[in-house]
Amino acid sequence: MKALITGIPGFVGSHLTELLVKKNTEVFGTYLEGESLENLKSVKKNLVLYECDITDFDHLSKLVKKILPDQIYHLAAFSSVGKSFEKPLETIGINVRGTLYLLEILRNIKKKIRILVVSSADIYGKVKRNQLPIKETHSLVPVSPYGASKACGDLLAYQYFQSFGVQVIRARSFNHTGPRQSKGFVIPDFASQIAKIHLGLSKPLIKVGNLDAKRDLSDVRDVVWAYHLLLKKGKPGNAYNVCSGKTFRIKYLLNHLLKLTERKVRIVGGKTQKRPTDIPILLGDNTKIKKEVGWKPKISIEQTLEDTLKFWIHRRSRERYQRR
Ligand code: GDD
Repeated sequence: MKALITGIPGFVGSHLTELLVKKNTEVFGTYLEGESLENLKSVKKNLVLYECDITDFDHLSKLVKKILPDQIYHLAAFSSVGKSFEKPLETIGINVRGTLYLLEILRNIKKKIRILVVSSADIYGKVKRNQLPIKETHSLVPVSPYGASKACGDLLAYQYFQSFGVQVIRARSFNHTGPRQSKGFVIPDFASQIAKIHLGLSKPLIKVGNLDAKRDLSDVRDVVWAYHLLLKKGKPGNAYNVCSGKTFRIKYLLNHLLKLTERKVRIVGGKTQKRPTDIPILLGDNTKIKKEVGWKPKISIEQTLEDTLKFWIHRRSRERYQRR
């Protein structure tokens, strides 16, 4: 079995690679020029890596035709909702073009290659309380450039299945976190600051954004297991919510992280973390993925938070050591 992962060195790509390598899959991956491969250090010798920008159609096309994988996990994306408000062109360029290019390449290849297009809960926008938990049948009404770009990729994936029979499965992923997620997302933003405070490297003060939002949050290790099962057993053309079915207030997540250090920390609102619009609550219905592919999340959010904070403490103490 040959799998191609776009954006392999990212936080999700590296966890997915570890899983696929354990399953004896031959793993190929794309990365961007200059991108760090640090996340892949434990599995690097089992991989074939190609420097390739997914918005370079000719290069991507040559690569897919050369590898002729059985499966493609399309992870490469502009993934920050917050930053997408400042960089709409980049967001649309990477997320829409990248997805469209892959679909177009697959439509012109005889081999039936199954592709997982990673969509997002952000495509559902601000959902009314009486429509929670969100089902896959909910309309797409995104309120961020990121959400709009993911909605477009999701719809293109459906259209390529309908029109050309491309074997595409859409994963509508809700929030997920864990070790190796980069700053710019809420849990690493909090954990990286708490780690510094914990080690006595900065003042006991943490900058935060909107603490009232609620998110359906899963562990990345559960999410990559869902992706693997979806490519194995999901129905082509279909969309599946990947979510825990539980929602957590951001304030609860912050308080839980703070409980993991004995330091007393002062919380301050940072303007930079605020967005023009923020979805107040995301809560998904995971009945379909449970029934059709037999996935359910196993790792508790408290465990995820603990592992993520440990990751940041380790990283911060290593940086301190290297600076000496
Ligand atoms: N990033 C960030 N940093 N968010 C903060 C902070 C902070 O310091 N403080 C509060 N928040 C709030 C945000 O305003 C938002 O309401 C929530 O925490 C989650 O923010 P993010 O972690 O940036 O995630 P997101 O919900 O905008 O998007 C994530 O989930 C999508 C699926 O639901 C991303 O992972 C997307 O790539 C993903 O598709």
